[in-house]
Amino acid sequence: MRTRAAVLREAPGEWQIEELELDEPKDGELLVEMVASGLCHSDDHYLVGDNTVAQMPLVGGHEGAGIVRKVGPNVTGFEVGDHVLTAFIPACGRCRWCASGKQNLCDNGAIIQIGHQVDGTYRMHTDDGEDVATLALLGTFSEWQVYDQMSLVKIDEDIPLDVACLVACGVQTGYGSATNAADVQTGDVVVVVGVGGVGMNAVQGARDAGAGHIIAVDPVEDKQKWALDFGATESFGSLEEASGRVAELTNGQGADATILTPSLLTNAIIGEGFVSIRKGGTLVVTSVSNETRCGDVPGLNGFMLAMLQKRIQGALYGMQAPREAMPKLLRQYKNGQLKLDELVTKRYTLDEIGQATEDLRAGRNIRGVIVYD
Ligand SMILES: NC(=O)c1ccc[n+]([C@@H]2O[C@H](COP(=O)([O-])OP(=O)(O)OC[C@H]3O[C@@H](n4cnc5c(N)ncnc54)[C@H](O)[C@@H]3O)[C@@H](O)[C@H]2O)c1
Ligand SMILES: [Zn+2]
Ligand SMILES: [Zn+2]
Repeated sequence: MRTRAAVLREAPGEWQIEELELDEPKDGELLVEMVASGLCHSDDHYLVGDNTVAQMPLVGGHEGAGIVRKVGPNVTGFEVGDHVLTAFIPACGRCRWCASGKQNLCDNGAIIQIGHQVDGTYRMHTDDGEDVATLALLGTFSEWQVYDQMSLVKIDEDIPLDVACLVACGVQTGYGSATNAADVQTGDVVVVVGVGGVGMNAVQGARDAGAGHIIAVDPVEDKQKWALDFGATESFGSLEEASGRVAELTNGQGADATILTPSLLTNAIIGEGFVSIRKGGTLVVTSVSNETRCGDVPGLNGFMLAMLQKRIQGALYGMQAPREAMPKLLRQYKNGQLKLDELVTKRYTLDEIGQATEDLRAGRNIRGVIVYD
């Protein structure tokens, strides 16, 4: 069948809307009519070339929601008409990680930056017969898409898909960065660095975990202001500006936890974050850095790491299993405990994805969402 999708042909580059040929779902796969897809900053990392996939052209997008329209052979647990979210880490259910409830670390995560499906073939093709890669086995920037059953999470049908889609990445990732990775406790002083689509949900997670003070840090003034509506108690433009207040609140010791969710992770931000936490405190690293840029982290003193017993915790997908986390987060939304509608700053058509990307880079949105016709 035919579908229209946002395609990246070279990085750095921009999304181009192209008509592609989409195969029938194969063994263990489903055809999904997409309803909405959020724009996460991780998508942009592929445009600018900070992160790469093994093959171009590439259809991007990984924060999607849609409706199952066809079920391929050997699919269990899904029916035509089911409402689904996409998981950017597939879950096989059998590897060591899945078997121990850590589906966010499923061994199939190793292939999400290659571009083909699990069996090594592609479902999307150009009219010239060229195979088209999909990001994270997904590629949600397409009106229609074929997904492996490992990559889909079924959700209740009474939740609007154009807000539910945000749970597929930003909400689960941010919320779990606070509740799991930072393990925020009642009364804690928590700093969230970068309050966009992911960080705003770290604020929500910290709020629900009972944090005493939640300090939002973002250079964009609107973000500083919006964070207060999601549970932040104060906002600052930089970690440096926030440091005086953190010291004041903690008798000079530092934050119980600092959660790093800025657009792009740099070594300087890791160093500043490390210095900002108290002894025994936790620095959560959720943001993604340029894949190849490594080297010294200024301020990361190995002696202090051991002697002050600080913890640096990387966090993938909020350290939660998507099939457990997504329905729970959506239940909180239905109960009025979790803000999702307010996360969507602006809706776009697929053809407006260039504008949506520009707005993401300029920090104009908490989240921009592509809504399909
Ligand atoms: N670990 C994971 O599983 C995972 C999952 C999703 C996204 N991510 C990553 O999380 C990061 C955030 O994604 P997002 O979609 O929320 O991005 P976003 O663009 O929506 O938000 C990032 C925010 O950081 C702010 N910012 C930029 N530089 C800053 C700085 N130096 N200090 C403080 N704030 C700063 C921006 O103004 C913006 O508000 C990205 O790197 C993304 O790739 C990681
Ligand atoms: Zn994402
Ligand atoms: Zn697995």
